[in-house]
Amino acid sequence: MRTVLITGASGFVGENLAHRFAREAELARAYGNQSPRAKAEKVFSLDLAVRDNFTRALGDLTVDTVIHTAAMVSPDQCEKDPHMAQAVNAEGTREVAHWAEARNATMVYFSTDLVFDGKKGAYNEGDAPAPLNVYGRTKLAGEEEVLRICTRWVIIRLALSYGTTRGARGDWTLSMRRALDAGKTLHLYTDQFRTPAYVGDTAEAVLRLARCGRNGIYHMGGGERVSRYDFGRKFCYIFGLDEDRFVPVRMEETRMDAPRATDCSLDTEKIAREIGLVPCGVEQGLRLQKLEEEALAEADRSPPRD
Ligand SMILES: NC(=O)c1ccc[n+]([C@@H]2O[C@H](COP(=O)([O-])OP(=O)(O)OC[C@H]3O[C@@H](n4cnc5c(N)ncnc54)[C@H](OP(=O)(O)O)[C@@H]3O)[C@@H](O)[C@H]2O)c1
Repeated sequence: MRTVLITGASGFVGENLAHRFAREAELARAYGNQSPRAKAEKVFSLDLAVRDNFTRALGDLTVDTVIHTAAMVSPDQCEKDPHMAQAVNAEGTREVAHWAEARNATMVYFSTDLVFDGKKGAYNEGDAPAPLNVYGRTKLAGEEEVLRICTRWVIIRLALSYGTTRGARGDWTLSMRRALDAGKTLHLYTDQFRTPAYVGDTAEAVLRLARCGRNGIYHMGGGERVSRYDFGRKFCYIFGLDEDRFVPVRMEETRMDAPRATDCSLDTEKIAREIGLVPCGVEQGLRLQKLEEEALAEADRSPPRD
């Protein structure tokens, strides 16, 4: 693995992958609407919703690995605009898969735990997907395109993710923190369970999977199954915030455009067995996030060396 293209490089996951991969490979980055920050590198602005735009924007670039994170990620927005969700998440992924295949590159596709219906929980890679909403259906359609088109491929079904914000787009803990800072009250579900994944673990898993050269579907969750509410309380505990402004609610008490699954927790035994990565639990991940954020803040305060 010498040259890597990351799509969605301005996204929360994409920025963290770029940070981890910068030490390992020559990077090219594809963005959507955000302006490229890394001017000195290979950067491309494109719109996956427009057919052939990806292929035209990248010109004759050649890479040996494509990490495709770009997607329409909000379940509610996907529900409101299913045609756009299909264009970006399914047809856009088809175009990226063809592009990767034409270059004999390995395609690493980011899918989601929301391909499952949430009735069982602790899903492993052999369980049958049955998405409840447009987001899950279009991401699953993206998986099917990758399986149909690519010779070398990895599909990562990612759980709800958290960690250090490195660019313009943050994770859901950033929205939570901003709301708390603004003095707002937050409603968090007590009956929706996930295995939140620390993004540093995810970046490490992608690196190991890309290196090992094996095709496969992998579930990337964290080491602990928690409700949103319990996650929020642990977040407040680690970051010293006031948890009293979290209101525990059940999903049926709130209005959502997209139906949400109850328990999409993931079984991560396969990544532990095959690449030796045991994902951290919530408190450990949040402590790592806090340390990283403190180090970034310190670096921002330090005067430049030259
Ligand atoms: N974060 C999670 O909790 C989570 C959980 C499960 C699965 N996933 C999957 O992980 C991947 C990354 O998610 P994320 O949290 O990093 O999302 P994010 O922060 O919202 O970033 C999405 C990225 O996709 C790009 N993008 C969106 N529409 C595009 C379009 N039409 N053309 C080109 N680029 C477009 C955005 O570009 P601009 O910002 O430049 O417009 C951005 O770089 C996604 O595939 C998502 O389905 C995420």
